[in-house]
This record gives sequence, C-alpha cells and structure tokens, in this order.
Amino acid sequence: MKQSFRSENRKSVAVGAGCTYKGSMRVLGIETSCDETGVAIYDGELGLMAHVLYSQAHIHAEYGGVVPEIASRDHVRKLVPLLDECLEQAGCNRSNIDGIAYTSGPGLVGALLVGAAAGRAIAQALDVPAVGVHHMEGHLLAPLLEEEPPQFPFVALLVSGGHSMLVEVREIGVYRVLGETLDDAAGEAFDKTAKLLGLGYPGGPVLAKAAETGDPAKFRFPRPMTDRPGLEFSFSGLKTHTRNLWNRHSGDVNAKADIAAGFQRAVVDTMVIKCRRAMQQTRCGQLVIAGGVGANLELRETLQRAGKKYGWSVSYPRIEFCTDNGAMIAYAGYHRLQAGESEPDVIRARPRWPLHELMATTHPK
Ligand code: KG4
Ligand code: ZN
Repeated sequence: MKQSFRSENRKSVAVGAGCTYKGSMRVLGIETSCDETGVAIYDGELGLMAHVLYSQAHIHAEYGGVVPEIASRDHVRKLVPLLDECLEQAGCNRSNIDGIAYTSGPGLVGALLVGAAAGRAIAQALDVPAVGVHHMEGHLLAPLLEEEPPQFPFVALLVSGGHSMLVEVREIGVYRVLGETLDDAAGEAFDKTAKLLGLGYPGGPVLAKAAETGDPAKFRFPRPMTDRPGLEFSFSGLKTHTRNLWNRHSGDVNAKADIAAGFQRAVVDTMVIKCRRAMQQTRCGQLVIAGGVGANLELRETLQRAGKKYGWSVSYPRIEFCTDNGAMIAYAGYHRLQAGESEPDVIRARPRWPLHELMATTHPK
C-alpha cells in the first residue's frame, strides 16, 4: 500500500523517491534517545516479533537525573548484546532484516548518535535502507501496536519527559499539533516535584507511588491554564506552588504523600480539561494517551471515566510501550520505509526537532 505523508497544513508531500517497498518488510528498530536502550523487530505481516529493553534508570538515580555522558557510554555497552538478544527472541538472523529504523531526535545528542551510528552501520553492512525516526512520532504510534488499535482520526495526549502536547492524528504521518506546553513538560514537572520532595528518580513512578497514601484534597493546588481558552499547558507555576507548600509543611509527617497526591491530581485534572476541549474542538470521538506520563494510572483511569461520561473511546499502549522502547521506533520506521522513504547515508542526530517540522524536513516537496 502506498502511504503518503502530508505536512501539518495538509499539503501533499512526496515521499522519498516515490517508490514504495514491494512486499512486507521486516524492520529492526533502535531507540537510544535518553536513558533506555530499546531494540525491536517489527514485521508487516507478523507484527511485533520481539522487543528488548534495558533501562539505565538505576545508574542515573544516584545523580538525581540523567547524566548525558553516562547515558551515551551505557548505550554503547548495551546495544550490541541487546541486538543479538532481540534477533534470538524473534527467531531470525541479520539476513532476514529488510530495513533499519533508529531514533534520530529529539533527545540527548550523544545518546542519539550511538543509535544513529549503529543503525547506519548495520544498514550498510546488510545493504538495506535505514531511516531516522522522530521519537515523538514513535510515541504517537505506539498505541497502534496493541491488539485493539485506535481508529483514525484520533486526538493524542502526548505526555513525556520532554514534551506535553495534544496532537490530531488524521492518519499515519498526518499530524496537527493542537497545543503544547509553554514551559515544563508534564514528565519534567513530575521529575522536578519528586526531586523536591526527596522521593528519588525517575520522578513519575515514585511520585505516583507516594501519592497512593496521600489525601489529594488536603492542600489546594491550581489547575494551570484552565481559566482561559486554548490547548496550551504550563506546569512551572504548579511547580513553584508545590515548592512553597513543601517549604511550609516539610516538618509534617503526612505532608509529603498529601502534596504528592494533590500535585498528581492537579496535573491529571488539567489534562482532562484540555483533552475535553481538544475533543470538542476537533469533533473527534477517539482519544489516545501516549508517552511516559501515559503510564500514570490515575491519568489513565480518570481519562477513561471522562471518556465514558462524554462519549469518547479512550485507548493507550500497554505501560511498557508508554515509556521509551524500541517497538514504537520499529513500527514508525516500518511505515516510513514501507512508503519508500530513504535518507542519505549520513549519521545524523537532531537533539531539537519540533514535531511540526517532521514532514517538511524529511519529506521534500
Ligand atoms: O516517554 P518517556 O519514557 O521519555 C521521554 O520521551 O521523555 O517519558 C519519561 C517521563 C519521565 O518524566 C517520567 O517521570 C514519566 O515519563 N513517567 C511517569 C510515570 N512513568 C513515567 N509520570 C507519571 N506517572 C508515571 N507512572
Ligand atoms: Zn520518550
């Protein structure tokens, strides 16, 4: 099937040299944009054949956040053993691979270069095409790996450590950013707040855990950017509010859990309000939650309830495909390669790569 990718303003954009791949491809995906090394194999006919993941979180925990140089070096150490493990799990060998997909941005430049260099080298050795994938496109498409995938068009709440956005997805490759964060991303707000409360790293899961025993109504928290129209997010004010609360109540034994619960509830409420607006604005009936913060159970459950109430279907990837993984990169890369997209044989990392530039940059008119 010929897949065409179109830019945000819906102008048609030629894909690669215009030639589509004949037959079903088997694509090896590599993810190294931050602190997870992920490798997966996706086959157009058989689906996801294997995926393996190694998290460096325990190494960075000691420093309270990701140390870029350590991340790059650890990707170098882990990538080749993970590639072998993935091939073994899939029951195939290198000669069965028809294409390579690697994350080329956004992310940490050194970490991205490890995956890009490995991806390019493998592609050259096997004489197969390779494509650099936009990490956020990977997250956006991850829900399509599930057995009951969402139907197009859908609105995606894309919330990760570096991004918070609402995106209208008309079909694979046709994205319109409806609203973004003006400052901190949702995951970043979780990480910084967890650090402030002395909960450790990575912040999202540990803060969610602490919130389980807290009373979300004990302290008042603002719902940022909800008192004015629009689909933008802003979490820095919430962070400052939380810091001030903690400075006043850090002596109280229960305050930590109560503040964690109140903070989480405020973030979730804010997202639900914005999602509702996005669904009304687009008249879309399908909402998708993607990205690392999509692993948050309170967010998943609250949006599920909102979906029931307002009449939308809500879907999300399994927890392990919310956070970074190779499967989403293999899947996104599969669609781009299958469409005939190919890139010059250069090792390229794009640490900053806005999603709205994705089509214009990789699909010359
Ligand atoms: O998508 P992801 O794995 O990496 C990026 O692309 O950034 O997202 C990581 C972010 C981190 O900020 C992490 O704290 C957050 O997702 N996260 C969570 C949860 N699990 C991961 N946030 C809230 N609740 C969680 N359960
Ligand atoms: Zn991510």
